[in-house]
Amino acid sequence: MNSKIYIETYGCQMNFADTEIVLGILKNKGYEVANSIDDADVILLNTCSIRDNAEQRIYGRLGNLKNLKNQKPELLLGILGCMAERLRKDLIEEKKIVDLVVGPDEYRRLPEYIDIAFNGEKGIGVRLSRTETYDDIEPHREDGLSAWISVMRGCDKFCTFCVVPFTRGRERSRSLQSVVQEVQNLSERGFKEVTLLGQNVNSYLDCENDFADLLEACAKVDRNMRIRFTTSHPQDLSDKLLYTIAENSNICNYIHLPVQSGSNRILELMNRTYTIEHYLNLIEKARKIIPGVSFSTDIIAGFPTETWQDHLATLEVMKQVRYDGAYMFKYSPREGTKAYRMEDDVPDEVKTKRLQEIIDLQQTISYQKNQELIGKEEVVLVEGFSRKSDEFLAGRTDTNKVVVFPKFYNIAVGDYVTVKINKATSATLFGEIVENFSFKESLNLKCV
Ligand code: 5AD
Ligand code: SF4
Repeated sequence: MNSKIYIETYGCQMNFADTEIVLGILKNKGYEVANSIDDADVILLNTCSIRDNAEQRIYGRLGNLKNLKNQKPELLLGILGCMAERLRKDLIEEKKIVDLVVGPDEYRRLPEYIDIAFNGEKGIGVRLSRTETYDDIEPHREDGLSAWISVMRGCDKFCTFCVVPFTRGRERSRSLQSVVQEVQNLSERGFKEVTLLGQNVNSYLDCENDFADLLEACAKVDRNMRIRFTTSHPQDLSDKLLYTIAENSNICNYIHLPVQSGSNRILELMNRTYTIEHYLNLIEKARKIIPGVSFSTDIIAGFPTETWQDHLATLEVMKQVRYDGAYMFKYSPREGTKAYRMEDDVPDEVKTKRLQEIIDLQQTISYQKNQELIGKEEVVLVEGFSRKSDEFLAGRTDTNKVVVFPKFYNIAVGDYVTVKINKATSATLFGEIVENFSFKESLNLKCV
């Protein structure tokens, strides 16, 4: 009988996309996907190292799984992803918790490492690669509406707080052709939305094709399919990319553009390589080129040496940009990074207070921005019933906002509908269906 694999995924969307690649590789070798942990012969945790609390959560989980392994000694436990390189010694030699540790560039050899572990040895593969993109692997995906496609791996930016260049290695891009083919396959399976993923998609390069070329090529595959992308670095976001978004109606008007801090002094210490003036100009330019574009961001509170003035500068930028959404974090020192050598001198209670102020401000801005949408019409991709009631459907706008509206007899999951907004909280819009919507008829409507 074939062995069954269960993978639990932590962290960013790249990790979720990697889990699908891993399952693709294992299925090719005859493994089956287990429906639950109790059903599995091999349990793998695809891990995240970005902040200390992510790693602590995974250690906690490993503690639980160890109990399961004590009851079922033939069970294999493995670590995949970003914690692999960093903690292999700790996990395998010192804590002796796991049988397998396999890093993000060694997934092709995972079947081999599993065999080694079944034979009673430790399966360890943590080397990083300059070329591995898993271009030829078909990820294992359940049927659905939305899919992630990773188009590049690694990061060369070396922001001083960030562990990613160390855990995921150097930047490398997949071929444009293989990404377009994957979009085509997903379209044929009925998917309605793809998100192109990379730590810094703007440095995508395949021969002479840059990220704007890739985005346009994907958008042309099926005009009824929404194309999203993340993450953009403010230094590399080109005018060409902004025009490409504007000229293709099915590329979403939504840019995730991490600012991290509003203070030039802190941005420099973070090695973000842009000033806040450059960042704000970019936002202004994008708003001119793409009417209605929305922005989300990442913000770190309490980076080393951050003063009250620096913190106020961050709040000021948030007020100026008026983000539609933000991912907000307390600074967490990561071993191996440049910032790790700086003193973590902002006390935890100060970090907590600043973070709370950032969260409160974003909540107010999100609420106000959503109130401004009352009376407006939004195109929504219907994703299913709302969480609270089967009498209501839910979906998302082009700008990634959740909309809830009463169901209508001929409207199905995967349809696009125009919804008139009549109520809003900071997190959700509510409205009524006005009409069915087809992207095919609205091609290039927003072309400037
Ligand atoms: N501490 C806190 N936040 C971090 N991020 C990355 N590294 C750290 C860290 N050491 C945040 C950044 C990044 C997002 C993915 O995670 O805001 O954009
Ligand atoms: Fe980390 Fe900076 Fe690269 Fe983003 S751009 S993954 S924050 S090093």
